Amino acid sequence: MLQNCDCSGYSREEKGSRMPSQHHTPLPDGMPQLRVMPMPSDANIHGDVFGGWIMAQVDIAGSLPAVRRANGRVATVAVNSFLFKHPVFVGDLLSFYASIVRVGNTSITVYVEVYAERNRLQAETVKVTEATLTYVATGEDRKPRVLPPLVD
Ligand SMILES: CC(C)(COP(=O)(O)OP(=O)(O)OC[C@H]1O[C@@H](n2cnc3c(N)ncnc32)[C@H](O)[C@@H]1OP(=O)(O)O)[C@@H](O)C(=O)NCCC(=O)NCCS
Repeated sequence: MLQNCDCSGYSREEKGSRMPSQHHTPLPDGMPQLRVMPMPSDANIHGDVFGGWIMAQVDIAGSLPAVRRANGRVATVAVNSFLFKHPVFVGDLLSFYASIVRVGNTSITVYVEVYAERNRLQAETVKVTEATLTYVATGEDRKPRVLPPLVD
């Protein structure tokens, strides 16, 4: 989480000059829910990827553990928080890590972190985005559905 680490993507000495470090935040343990590389059509004329495109991928990544927990369809009811900490560029390899942080009666809240691997030959990794989203389990009628009990 942000309060426990310096996720700025810059080493202490480099912060003054704002030059990116070549030794960045290590990727979290475990498998990402999603890996994707933005293309030129996902960016503005300067090569910066649109925030809306990133939000869509975060929504997809966050929905995957929610669908598994709900054992069925879910709908996004809220984007509780969203932080674009660093820009994303065309050609970055993005990894989306998602974990459930809260389960209610019908709702599931998921924390999503996004890491960009860029200049891959120099092994540069930057945490670019973090977000928290809430999904609601829904039935065929698109109305909230009580979550099934956890099975061992
Ligand atoms: C998701 C939807 C089915 C929920 O129906 P609803 O009648 O509004 O739901 P409720 O008020 O009964 O709340 C259902 C759950 O969502 C939670 N919830 C509702 N609004 C919330 C908010 N702003 N933030 C966090 N959780 C919220 C409630 O606390 C409740 O959780 P719980 O059952 O675990 O206690 C309905 O709002 C909907 O269809 N929204 C559109 C979904 C959609 O199209 N998403 C795509 C993005 S446009």
